[in-house]
Amino acid sequence: MINRRDFIAGVSAAVGGALLPGQFLSAGEQSVYIPGEAGLIVRSERFFDLETPSEFFDSWITPVPRFFVRNHMHEPATLEASSWQLSVGGEVEKPLTLTLADLQKMTSHSVTNTLECAGNGRAFVQPHVPGIQWQKGAVGTAKFSGPRLRDVLQRAGVKETGKHVMFRGLDEVPGKVPPFIRSIPIEKALDDDTLVALQMNGAAIPKHHGFPARTLVPGWVGAASCKWLSEIKVLEKEFDGNFMKPGYRMPNHPLNPGDALNVEDSHAITALKVKSLIASPADGSSVKSRALTIRGAAWAGEADIAKVEVSTDEGATWQSAQLGHDQAKYAWRLWNYRWKAPKPGDYTILSRATDMQGRVQPATAEWNPSGYLNNTIDRVRVHVEA
Ligand code: MTE
Repeated sequence: MINRRDFIAGVSAAVGGALLPGQFLSAGEQSVYIPGEAGLIVRSERFFDLETPSEFFDSWITPVPRFFVRNHMHEPATLEASSWQLSVGGEVEKPLTLTLADLQKMTSHSVTNTLECAGNGRAFVQPHVPGIQWQKGAVGTAKFSGPRLRDVLQRAGVKETGKHVMFRGLDEVPGKVPPFIRSIPIEKALDDDTLVALQMNGAAIPKHHGFPARTLVPGWVGAASCKWLSEIKVLEKEFDGNFMKPGYRMPNHPLNPGDALNVEDSHAITALKVKSLIASPADGSSVKSRALTIRGAAWAGEADIAKVEVSTDEGATWQSAQLGHDQAKYAWRLWNYRWKAPKPGDYTILSRATDMQGRVQPATAEWNPSGYLNNTIDRVRVHVEA
């Protein structure tokens, strides 16, 4: 087991350049990735908020060492698989406690899911909003495996009165910060694809991503997928603690930029919106050839992507990009578009996704005080050399 102090020392050393990019520390049961100079972008060292650089979005499945990390608090200092337990209670007939071995014995189901933080893209929101200044990379796609949450709940027997399901994480809560507890409606909890995930990309979930178990609420904002899960509780109504209210809420009606959120006129964020990103060329880069392939990824939460279009003339005309072959219900589609610049010079490349529900990425997403769900059309600037 690695403890938090050792890990922070490791991160600091890596940020200072003492460790090689991509270097792993062996940590007993798990390997802990140390973000290096060529690795993840450290948005906050205090609680580990690590962003994936756009150029890493070149594979359908994001390798774990390249997967963004979003922590609201300190990770649990020690977590022993042998003593870890998950309690299931609340509005159930038979409250129970499960060990990791119990969960491992249950039928496992896999879901390939694009996980995106609700605050991804916050850095581009105008006027500026406070919070971790994520640019494009608080998103990634991984295969999560484990028992269905429904099967776990059925063991306990959900009562008629059970309408929401609450999850508690084992984060180390600093000072007066409330614990990480959120809830989802019973319908989503009983969905075939909602998991108590024990694996990520075919191996035990690593520490940063919620070892030994996290919920996987596919197609929904990352915050719904609780890491370091310790408790599942069936409730009569939506949980109303800090991370549900006022946290992670959207206004019921559009706000004017700068307006405060009226919590009583808002709702908890659920599914992701339709969105695309340009992975290459990199923003601000210079390319030698007039012919280039523009690449990226597009996703739409619980919906499928219908098309991705690219514009190289500030949105005057749009051309369809080619969608990649790899696809799964909640996973992004990679896309590419071969383009020949008419002449050397400076260009802006835009990408715009449309989903099967007919939702289209907007030119400017609706403003909200936390900068949630910014799915504005993506853009990069590129210089085509003479
Ligand atoms: N679960 C716990 N216990 N604590 C957290 O801080 N962060 C949430 C969610 N689950 C969080 C959590 C948020 S905001 C996101 S976006 C995802 O985890 C990020 O998952 P990842 O770190 O595996 O990428």
